[in-house]
Amino acid sequence: MAITKKENVFKLDTKNTSYLLKITELGYVMHVYYGAKVEDMDLSEIYPYRGRAFSPNMADNPYSDDRYSLDTLPQEYVGSGCSDFRAASVTALDQSGYNSVDLRYTAYEILETKPSLEGLPSTYDEKGETQTLAIHLVDELRKMKVTLFYTVFAEKDLITRSAKVENIGEDSLYLEKAMSVCMDFPASSYDLIQFHGSWANERQEQRSKIAYGLQGFSSKRGTSSHQHNPFCIVCDHETTEKWGAAYAFGLVYSGNHLLQVEKTQTDEVRLTMGINPDDFGWKLEKNQAFDTPEVMMIFSNHGLNDLSQIYHTAVRKHICRGEWRDKQRPILVNNWEATYFDFDEDKIVDLATKAKSLGIEMIVLDDGWFGHRNDDTTSLGDWFTDYHKLPNGLEGLSHKIKEIDMKFGLWIEPEMISEDSELYRKHPDWVLSQEGRSRSKGRTQYVLDFTREEVIDGIWEQLDLVLKNNPIDYIKWDMNRHLTEVGSLMLAKDCKKETYHRQVLGVYQLMNRLVTSYPHILLENCSGGGGRFDLGMLCYSPQIWTSDDTDAIERLSIQYGSSYAYPLSCMGAHVSAVPNHQTGRITPIKTRGDVAMFGVFGYELDLARLTTEEQDIVKKQCAFYKENALLMQQGKFYRIQTPKDSSYAAWSVVSEDEKHIYLLYVTIKGRANGPQKVVKLPYANYNMKYREVESNRSYYGSTLCHAGVLIADVEQDYQSQLLHFVCE
Ligand code: DGJ
Repeated sequence: MAITKKENVFKLDTKNTSYLLKITELGYVMHVYYGAKVEDMDLSEIYPYRGRAFSPNMADNPYSDDRYSLDTLPQEYVGSGCSDFRAASVTALDQSGYNSVDLRYTAYEILETKPSLEGLPSTYDEKGETQTLAIHLVDELRKMKVTLFYTVFAEKDLITRSAKVENIGEDSLYLEKAMSVCMDFPASSYDLIQFHGSWANERQEQRSKIAYGLQGFSSKRGTSSHQHNPFCIVCDHETTEKWGAAYAFGLVYSGNHLLQVEKTQTDEVRLTMGINPDDFGWKLEKNQAFDTPEVMMIFSNHGLNDLSQIYHTAVRKHICRGEWRDKQRPILVNNWEATYFDFDEDKIVDLATKAKSLGIEMIVLDDGWFGHRNDDTTSLGDWFTDYHKLPNGLEGLSHKIKEIDMKFGLWIEPEMISEDSELYRKHPDWVLSQEGRSRSKGRTQYVLDFTREEVIDGIWEQLDLVLKNNPIDYIKWDMNRHLTEVGSLMLAKDCKKETYHRQVLGVYQLMNRLVTSYPHILLENCSGGGGRFDLGMLCYSPQIWTSDDTDAIERLSIQYGSSYAYPLSCMGAHVSAVPNHQTGRITPIKTRGDVAMFGVFGYELDLARLTTEEQDIVKKQCAFYKENALLMQQGKFYRIQTPKDSSYAAWSVVSEDEKHIYLLYVTIKGRANGPQKVVKLPYANYNMKYREVESNRSYYGSTLCHAGVLIADVEQDYQSQLLHFVCE
């Protein structure tokens, strides 16, 4: 049983973790414990009530002393304004104009099927392997009900949380803040690991000590953003990749978010995660409810690598879905960095023909095939073929691609509209905007108002036609600007603050139409690279374009950072031309291939410009990837050496059956006459003997573990080795 109840204590157990909460005498839901598995139901000795000066007590405090205060009580979901001075989980305004919230327990349920969330993607349970605890709380004065959901994926060491807020009164209730999760950690010394970035520099890890006061990260850009990924790790200060306690929290959401950690006056830490309350509001009429996005939580007592490995399995099996979830993805060539907007049918067919001869399986036609789009200033919203570029239409081109037995993929950016477009001339009011306020442009484009059903329908009709009439195997869904002057003309005055969230729901709705109407299509998300690399998007697309930075050396830290949360099967990674278009760096094609191989592999360059020798390398890369990709993507990923401030980077994958080990070593800064490069693989199986495929040299598992392997020919800048050890 994953969920047990004894008296007023609930216990959630996974294979290796336990989560305990307790209903207090006054009906507050107290957080008791989350961590490595424990047997006891009652841990109240370790977590007693504790009063503090200047921590007020509730009016109905059952004790004669001051020990019972919300300000010191570790809690699961916190109202506001009633003597807990830390971050609230929920605030709401009713007709009285007051917004304090005081939530008390009324009932619980244990559900055998996982409830879904209204309009939102969430984890799923296809094998009936979960139990869900629903705890009902009510604020009688505010006429508000909150249900806390805890779904336990026992075998996966995964617990998910979300909250439903309902108006149980007669009058309207205005939600001002509704977080997904609150977690109070006991007093200790913790670190926060977060993933910041910018365009072409996504998911750079930053580890900092959780200090007194508030810290965290957020997005107010309307998307999850390049700047702050909605994922974090809280770990003991001493935790390393191989050792120690660590917690991961990932929000299944693609819009504005907030993560806060708050170290209190007495060293506890409160974590809250959810939709950013800035610019958020939601009106609830009588009996209406609001679902918060879900948070995926994982704990490991064995360091950050183990934490990521558990997380990866959860993402691969309970977030990603559809026909392509477990399938080997085709090796693609994308024409963007090969031609940009300057292409025609012949160029694309030539690129596809060359790609086919090298072992590539799919060509993706990127931006510029529609309207009259020869640069990025026009035509978004006009999803019909540009016959100047493609005189035989998309149909003619796609059939030629099929004739050479290649798959065909297409780029779209459905959420956007250019001022210079037929769509804008017809529907200038379809833009997200606020009356009277001039509209900012980003990449010379506006954002469509996806809070409106007719706008979504209008875009879908066009896309549906394209997909119906062409043999399309893959879609790259791009999104190239953040949201400004956010408002919808159609929303009532007291609902304008709903726009940001409704916009995200609209995007999900359109994505859902695409994947349910065309389930065979492999969808790859993208937002100027990895600007919307989040668990919400992964519910629709099993892979996301990791970054517009295709430089192999820069990719090391981007992919390294991404690997904390996201498995290799989610990360689009391409070999591009040198000098690299973003950095000007010249790296060997071997290194570019070796790095991209640890992701969903492809090319993004004019293949005809490669030398014969380079083309031979490409052939070998494709052959290797076809044979090994699935083993790599479904294996355990180990971070070995961070590229940050280091002269080299290294990582490794061990296949599920431990019979294959893949090790990547890349020199970032070569050193003449430098030290020997030896890497230990402590996770090699002791009982196996391995052969390294390229050198044909044999190693006992114990040798790889303890003595390590010597890495040759990596003295110079940007040289790499991808070693493949196979059990003999
Ligand atoms: C941004 C994407 O990240 C690129 O890969 C490319 O598709 C361009 N947009 C096209 O405009």
